[in-house]
Amino acid sequence: MPNIIFNQETKEFHLQNKRISYILCILQNGQLGHLYFGKRVTHRDSFQHWLQLRTCSHTAYAFEKNFLFSLDLIRQEYPCYGTTDYREPAYQMELENGSRITNFVYKGHEIFDGKKPLEGLPGTYAEEPGDACTLEVVLEDKLIQAELVLSYTIYENYDVICRSARFINHGEERLKLRRALSASIDFYDSEFEMLQLDGSWARERHITKRKVEKGIQAITSTRGESSAEHNPFLALKRPDTTEMQGDAYGFCLVYSGNFLAQVEVDRFETARVSLGINPFEFTWILDSGAAFQTPEAVLTYSAQGLNGMSQNFHALFNERLVRRCWRNRERPVVLNNWEATYFRFDEQKILEIAEKAKKLGVELFVLDDGWFGKRNSSRSSLGDWYSDREKLPDGVEGLSKKIEAMGLKFGLWFEPEMVNRVSRLYEEHEDWVIRTPGRPMSHGRSQYVLDFSNPEVVDYIFQAMRKILENSKISYIKWDMNRTITEAYGSSLGTDRQGEFFHRYILGVYALYERLIEAFPEILFESCASGGARFDAGLLYYAPQCWASDDTDGVERIKIQYGTSMVYPISSIGAHVSAVPNHQLRRTTPLDFRANVAFFGAFGYELDPNAMTEEEQQQIIGQIQFFKKYRKVFQFGKFYRLQDPFAHQGNAAWMVVSEDRRTAIFSCFKVLASPNPKLKKIALAGLLPEKQYRCSRAGEVYYGDELMNMGFLPEMEFTGTYVRDPEITEENSGGDAGDFTSHLYVFECRDGE
Ligand code: DGJ
Repeated sequence: MPNIIFNQETKEFHLQNKRISYILCILQNGQLGHLYFGKRVTHRDSFQHWLQLRTCSHTAYAFEKNFLFSLDLIRQEYPCYGTTDYREPAYQMELENGSRITNFVYKGHEIFDGKKPLEGLPGTYAEEPGDACTLEVVLEDKLIQAELVLSYTIYENYDVICRSARFINHGEERLKLRRALSASIDFYDSEFEMLQLDGSWARERHITKRKVEKGIQAITSTRGESSAEHNPFLALKRPDTTEMQGDAYGFCLVYSGNFLAQVEVDRFETARVSLGINPFEFTWILDSGAAFQTPEAVLTYSAQGLNGMSQNFHALFNERLVRRCWRNRERPVVLNNWEATYFRFDEQKILEIAEKAKKLGVELFVLDDGWFGKRNSSRSSLGDWYSDREKLPDGVEGLSKKIEAMGLKFGLWFEPEMVNRVSRLYEEHEDWVIRTPGRPMSHGRSQYVLDFSNPEVVDYIFQAMRKILENSKISYIKWDMNRTITEAYGSSLGTDRQGEFFHRYILGVYALYERLIEAFPEILFESCASGGARFDAGLLYYAPQCWASDDTDGVERIKIQYGTSMVYPISSIGAHVSAVPNHQLRRTTPLDFRANVAFFGAFGYELDPNAMTEEEQQQIIGQIQFFKKYRKVFQFGKFYRLQDPFAHQGNAAWMVVSEDRRTAIFSCFKVLASPNPKLKKIALAGLLPEKQYRCSRAGEVYYGDELMNMGFLPEMEFTGTYVRDPEITEENSGGDAGDFTSHLYVFECRDGE
């Protein structure tokens, strides 16, 4: 059972499970101080010495005749600006008199078993008694009769602290939140490297590492989505932390809209990490009696390096974020028709693809964009969610039933938040489009964003989708979102609430998901935003998987999936094998290379199987059979990154290990061949040291500790010899020849053979 200890005398809270500790205290001024987050420490009567109250010339102090209490010099939990702290605060509130000074001080606290849901927002949850416990600290600003509730949850089996904040206005004044982050934490020092996930369309979540320097280093989104540019996550690691060992802290926001994640280093070289809704373009009015709930932030610590940090996130997200019947449930092998047909298809064509897919072993067919309105290009019909009878004479209703009758499940693409100018919806409800009165309207992909901050719009889209879903046999929805927001303005919000627009928009997205899930609990949702522009923990709560990228090139996918694995579980990474030459890069890679990458994800195909040769079809049959056999290990095993493609010219290695550690699947990838290459040896991880494992390569046997300590020797690379001599054979000059090679080996424990 996780433990939260409150020491009445020292006013300290110690949250701990078997591996981590988080310690905070009530400061002399009634605000909360931060004492520690990291590897578990033994509880003791007092940790007050860690406060280190001290003096410093040229700063300000809170109490008369006291030169020791300056918030400038104190590590805090949820700091405010303007009362001796000059760093960026966790929140800022404007009062009716225009002032921004508040004074939230300790009023009480509650410690309870479990975890409360966050109203209208995604979040992690607790299961049976003892799974998690929560500390809620209530702070009060008496002058304005407002409350601030800071919530901290610790789990028994997941090494995370889940934090959020809630503001409640019990007074008469109209308050305005100008900033309301989810978490802030002050580290004792700043000897860290910061790791973030950056990118763009078709190259999402590439890893960037930088030394943490004095000043502010921040990543944000202002696009109305969490974005491909930066992901709502950052990690801090010590300079000598590796993938396998050393301190690694991860901070992840369970949110899909504009965010801020930053590290501020002050003059004493302490590091403040802040995470939450982006304060830029955000204000929230708290009328008398109203409350504001921030999204949740997940903080994790691992002593086992970056892999340990990622495994903490993976376990938590698989088991305490993904909900319903999809928790820990293996994902169907999908065939999606997008790259096979784009908009050019009819029922006949779709049935032919689906029939072949079924023969190959596919389990679910997904009809992508182009089935509705008069959608023959991206220029029209978004918003008109009824079947195009020219393409599908029996509608989606008829098609879905025919596909089900083949023994396949059926999935359907929607882009619920969008509308084209050429559409019935636009004709009828031009007023539902996001636009600023009197200003020109920008488009993206010839489409406009519907105002999801308006519940009426959300309700209309729900009814339209419900109609299709009720009359068809639909097991899966791909929810796409192909443009960012401009000219932000909510016409139903009123002039004083425009700062609420972006957050209300995301609340509208969450509300629609929630209603659909309630009405169709079995449907598997896959989120998508031109690929992975909204791959975040917020959406994982509703859609347990996400289309990781429109880039289906095997080589690029290595980097995308490697980076994505920093935070998000393998089960959530939508990964399909597509045709070559690849449609995004025109690169040709072998079919086994593409599959070896895609196996480590929510696996499927994105091609026309009828256009594949007989030999390729046979290969696909083999791939699907193999994947199904090991699907549980691929999707829910422990994932280890072994070789970093960002540091090795794109070459990578990774592996998954089953829960009982008796099955492991290792894969390595070489992008470009090089002459006389250096020798290759890779240490595996996560195995049972004393057990013997048989390798699928040639049935050779290794002890687990040999594989982990001495390493494993993958195929030798071709040495490019020019001497032709009988003694020089293909084998002794290296079997791994040419560009785009990959190897995948299964290691099975030998007991009981
Ligand atoms: C963007 C998605 O990422 C693609 O997979 C596809 O669904 C298209 N949109 C359809 O318009």
